[in-house]
Amino acid sequence: MNLLRIDSSPNQAGSISRELTDLLQEKLESQGHKLTGKRDLYYDDLITLGDQDRYSAYFTPSEDLTDNQRKEIVGSNELAIEFAAADAYIVGVPMYNFTVPAALKTYIDLIARLGITFHYTPEGPVGLLKNKKVFVIISTGGTPIGSEVDFVSPYLKTFFGFIGITDVTFIAADVTNQSREASIEKGTTAIEAL
Ligand SMILES: Cc1cc2nc3c(=O)[nH]c(=O)nc-3n(C[C@H](O)[C@H](O)[C@H](O)COP(=O)(O)O)c2cc1C
Repeated sequence: MNLLRIDSSPNQAGSISRELTDLLQEKLESQGHKLTGKRDLYYDDLITLGDQDRYSAYFTPSEDLTDNQRKEIVGSNELAIEFAAADAYIVGVPMYNFTVPAALKTYIDLIARLGITFHYTPEGPVGLLKNKKVFVIISTGGTPIGSEVDFVSPYLKTFFGFIGITDVTFIAADVTNQSREASIEKGTTAIEAL
């Protein structure tokens, strides 16, 4: 399986989510999966949805795009096509203010693309990605994953379902403020059991 790894912690020294995405990558590679792409969302100079031409290009059929809209949509095309081409994903997510870091939300806005990751039918939107698997590693300081203020796991489950991915495994290294070691151990045990 082709594996895409996505890290969304801006912390590169001592990040808990990165320690566990490293471990999971190692584990999946040892099972024969191949890392084919890597995105480090706070270091990749992600574009945003704006400006006006980039935004409007989202809603314009490709044959009607102006030259500038065509240029502006390239970055989003690249990310969405790369995402759609992978078979499995490792996503590292620190909880920020009860939800995902802004860079991950931006990435999601860029890969949710009509005709690439979802389309509309008379019954409503349908995800275009099939037979994919996502592993989401979530680290938190004080908020337990699964608690009523955890807006990371329900949000990501909904988003991945929206684009057709229903096989989502959450690995929690949560409540690290109580014991960093115990939280890492919890995440490590879950990864080793995969
Ligand atoms: C801006 C910011 C917001 C945070 N918000 C929360 C939060 O809402 N709930 C929580 O439990 N921890 C919160 N934390 C703590 C991080 O989720 C925690 O330190 C996590 O382990 C960071 O992951 P990392 O080590 O991979 O960067 C926040 C940290 C930062 C920097």
